[in-house]
Amino acid sequence: MQSKTSTDGRWWDWFEETLRTARDLPAIQSLRYQWLGKRGQLTVAMKELAQLPAEQRRLRGQQLNQLRQRMVEALDIRQREIDIETEAALLNGERLDMTMPGRPPRVGLLHPLTRARRRIEDVLLRMGFSLHYGPQVESEWYNFEALNIPAGHPARDMQDSFFVDVPNMVLRTHTSPVQIRAMQQHQGRLPVKVLAPGVVYRRDDDATHTPMFQQVEGLVIDHGIGLADLKGTLTTMVREVLGERVETRFRSSYFPFTEPSVEMDVTCAACGGVGCRTCKATGWVEILGSGMVHPVVLANGGYDASVVSGFAFGLGIERLAMRLFGLDDLRLLYQNDLQFLQQFIRWEGGRQA
Ligand code: DAH
Repeated sequence: MQSKTSTDGRWWDWFEETLRTARDLPAIQSLRYQWLGKRGQLTVAMKELAQLPAEQRRLRGQQLNQLRQRMVEALDIRQREIDIETEAALLNGERLDMTMPGRPPRVGLLHPLTRARRRIEDVLLRMGFSLHYGPQVESEWYNFEALNIPAGHPARDMQDSFFVDVPNMVLRTHTSPVQIRAMQQHQGRLPVKVLAPGVVYRRDDDATHTPMFQQVEGLVIDHGIGLADLKGTLTTMVREVLGERVETRFRSSYFPFTEPSVEMDVTCAACGGVGCRTCKATGWVEILGSGMVHPVVLANGGYDASVVSGFAFGLGIERLAMRLFGLDDLRLLYQNDLQFLQQFIRWEGGRQA
């Protein structure tokens, strides 16, 4: 500002200094009022021009006008700069980093017991079985008598039961009562091919028993059903569920509701059949009970043993799940520990069975 009077030079320096430190719009605004407003420093000086002698007034007027114009321009420029800075800061704050890893959503998954049950169901449904369900609080007749387990029969000791306050009612000790209910619903129609999964209750509690557990019951009735049908169906089912490499064997056994009765064993998963603690050194683990349906049971369901025959089986889902997932403690399945359960996300390459 060499061409200006010294007053103008000081004014400009003062103005510029303040402008440079103005960081936001209100600061610019107040600077504008301070100099160019109605009572602004420069406005007042211009009003005072009238008092100057005519020959000075022209030059002084030009100088003040020039100063005013420079101030207006400088204020506008700084204002635009602040606008741009503000917007850039805003955009910066919102910037999306496309290279950041995403937050994976937590995927829910089916409980191992549900998976094991569905594997069994899938195989048998493909063979033509259909699903049936019965009540968990069951009458003693359906749970025992109808299955040829009369009151006082020693077989009732095999299943330590939970009795409820209602007379003659129990928490069902097995899914076998659904056999009777399903036969009654079929009203003599053939074939009967029923699959009854469900929760059952017994007074047991240790590393291999829980007071509540799950079974799948199967029942087939038709003309000319024999032990070969039983063996074929169960061997195929177990191979499909546990894999082709598993070996099976049948041992004769006893159940009041079947005659003859057999139990099915599979090779021990822990030792591959060599013999270890899990299989009590036998190389085999029992997986289900089965047999040809007893004539008395057929009669209780409304079928005549001189005309039709059938086989039945009952298997514990927990044991099968332990084998399927390589578990050594049954109780893991009921603790609902998420760290334990989430290991099964990747089971079967992520396929949710
Ligand atoms: N109900 C028997 C149990 O809970 C299992 C069973 C054995 C079911 C033989 C059957 C069968 O249908 O035929 O131990």
